[in-house]
Amino acid sequence: MRYDEAKKKMSDIGQPHVFDYYDELSDDQKADLLRQVEETDFSVLSKIEQGADDKRGVFSPLAAMQCSEIEAREKEFHDAGVKAIKAGKTAALLLAGGMGTRLGSDDPKGMYDIGITKPVYIFERIISNLLDVVKETDTWIRLFIMTSEKNHDKTVAFLKEHDYFGYKADRIVFFRQDMAPACDFNGKLYLESKNRISTSPNGNAGWYSSMVRAGLDKILADEGIEWINIFAVDNVLQRICDPCFVGATVLADVSVGAKVVRKAAPDEKVGVMCLEDGKPSIVEYYELSEDMMNAKDENGDPAYNYGVILNYLFRISELASVADDKMPLHVVKKKIPYMDENGNEVKPNEPNGFKFEQLVIDMIHQLETCLPYEVKREKEFAPIKNRTGVDSVDSARELLKYNGVEL
Ligand code: UTP
Repeated sequence: MRYDEAKKKMSDIGQPHVFDYYDELSDDQKADLLRQVEETDFSVLSKIEQGADDKRGVFSPLAAMQCSEIEAREKEFHDAGVKAIKAGKTAALLLAGGMGTRLGSDDPKGMYDIGITKPVYIFERIISNLLDVVKETDTWIRLFIMTSEKNHDKTVAFLKEHDYFGYKADRIVFFRQDMAPACDFNGKLYLESKNRISTSPNGNAGWYSSMVRAGLDKILADEGIEWINIFAVDNVLQRICDPCFVGATVLADVSVGAKVVRKAAPDEKVGVMCLEDGKPSIVEYYELSEDMMNAKDENGDPAYNYGVILNYLFRISELASVADDKMPLHVVKKKIPYMDENGNEVKPNEPNGFKFEQLVIDMIHQLETCLPYEVKREKEFAPIKNRTGVDSVDSARELLKYNGVEL
């Protein structure tokens, strides 16, 4: 894009300041800024005035497959899962594009060392969990790792340096997710340097469109992969592509399997699996009405009782119908590093603006059917969001020790 075109594009949307330092830039820096202006989708900024896409439909309960049923049918599920994995029909996808701002480390979250007497990295724990299945099934499961522009190089270098924690390098594929611009509370774009507009990863639903843009749907098709288990980087206990979960989802013949945990309390702050206008969905804890909180199923148990843990097994053939433009865009208050008017880099301690994200939970709602699959929270749910307190390094360490992991 030429300078005059780019300047007009940004002036037309009320953001001419993006070029305030243009005359000071080198030729490469100028080209970099012009490329960013050309490639970035600034239409997300209009979302601030439009307000949130929070109109919801009619909720009704969606029964989960409970641990008791899973235990009773364990062999059937396990055998079906091993068969699918051995046939190469299942891949894993690590969502590692997030910024991990709550943990507050400058490095990618997976590089965080949660060890006590020796180094134990988050990536190491995750890969070790997947390696259990590789060993059991004698199959190197294809592992995709989604990073972002912000953390890609560090992530790739770190994993290489650690020899991928025992994973086979040629079974791993890295790709970068797309980015969205970030702005202050008035919608004014932040600059992160004189030649770069502040951007942030476009949310954890960005994985499918980013994968397709990177041409990786070809690998899925060429290798006959039919299911993809996407999972968050920060849950150090979760099982990935575990045969029982894979088998139960395949046999249920659904669009997606979702790992869920029984809520610890009726008002626990987790998104709960349900139906919305008859389609699978997730109702946020703050959207649960008093009636929904007190509703009971036919066994007398709470009807909205199973929280999602960001571990889903998607049937790939149905993903093509999931359209980016049908998914709501969430405007999220976050801490956004920026360059001030004196050219100094500022790292705010409090949220100072908006990021724009699409979320996996909204993908689920575009699919027809879902199997909520119960896992025991003390065995499979140890998310690390914060350093201390709830969902923290401390709470995850306790749970890892409880499960016999040496730290
Ligand atoms: P979180 O919602 O916890 O976000 O991500 P985060 O960015 O890691 O952390 P905070 O909110 O800044 O503290 C849940 C999962 O989704 C991934 C994260 O890497 C994590 O595995 N994610 C999130 C992405 O891959 N891309 C995104 O744009 C956002």
